[in-house]
Amino acid sequence: MSISLKNVSYSYKGKYQTVRAVDGVSYDFEPGKCYAIVGKSGSGKTTLLSLMAGLDLPTEGEIIIGGKSTKDWNRNRLRRDAVSVIYQNYNLFPLLTVQENIMYPLDLKKMPKKDATALAHEVRERVELSATYDKRLPSHLSGGEQQRVAIARTLAQGCKIILADEPTGNLDSTNTRNIVDILCSLAHDDGCTVIIVTHDPSVAEQADTVLQMKDGAWI
Ligand SMILES: Nc1ncnc2c1ncn2[C@@H]1O[C@H](COP(=O)(O)OP(=O)(O)OP(=O)(O)O)[C@@H](O)[C@H]1O
Ligand SMILES: [Mg+2]
Repeated sequence: MSISLKNVSYSYKGKYQTVRAVDGVSYDFEPGKCYAIVGKSGSGKTTLLSLMAGLDLPTEGEIIIGGKSTKDWNRNRLRRDAVSVIYQNYNLFPLLTVQENIMYPLDLKKMPKKDATALAHEVRERVELSATYDKRLPSHLSGGEQQRVAIARTLAQGCKIILADEPTGNLDSTNTRNIVDILCSLAHDDGCTVIIVTHDPSVAEQADTVLQMKDGAWI
């Protein structure tokens, strides 16, 4: 699914001051490609990602996802069917096992248990975790393993656009390479649109296209 930014701006309006975090950004992200967005702390990367995830609406301009503006998308449906977000701290459910975490979006979609279990196994294999992980809890896994579970959950969800905010921020270089390889393969092999926000130059190097942000705009 494509995602187009059309002159997008976003301001945080406080009591005493307004911060223009995103300032007139336009871009067309294409399916099948892996993008990196880089830029200094405070340059507006997370704000832009939140707008693309439909968590908030631009104060000016529009974001078109699959032909429809985020202001016209039902927010829950956007999160369920089109856009999935991966975070630095993995955001797994701590009291659910690996398998239950992966199956969570399938339960929400009311997929029959047998099909959901089969799909959960398939996506777990895809992120190179063996069946011995199924019954384990996230807190008993390494950071790289937890992030792979989070990616498997996204895969199970079947989202067409994957947004990742510093997905390798807590990982060493080997795990970082592995996670970015998997994310890029979702673009190249599965046709997803993958957008990774990162501070890490080695992550940006693996992406097909690197976009640099400064003061809320591209440079
Ligand atoms: N909730 C908020 N209220 C007010 N201002 C905010 C809020 N969140 C972010 N900002 C401001 O908006 C600007 C962009 O912030 P953002 O979090 O998008 O930057 P970032 O590029 O993701 O930074 P980092 O690399 O540190 O994560 C910054 O000036 C920040 O102080
Ligand atoms: Mg950020």
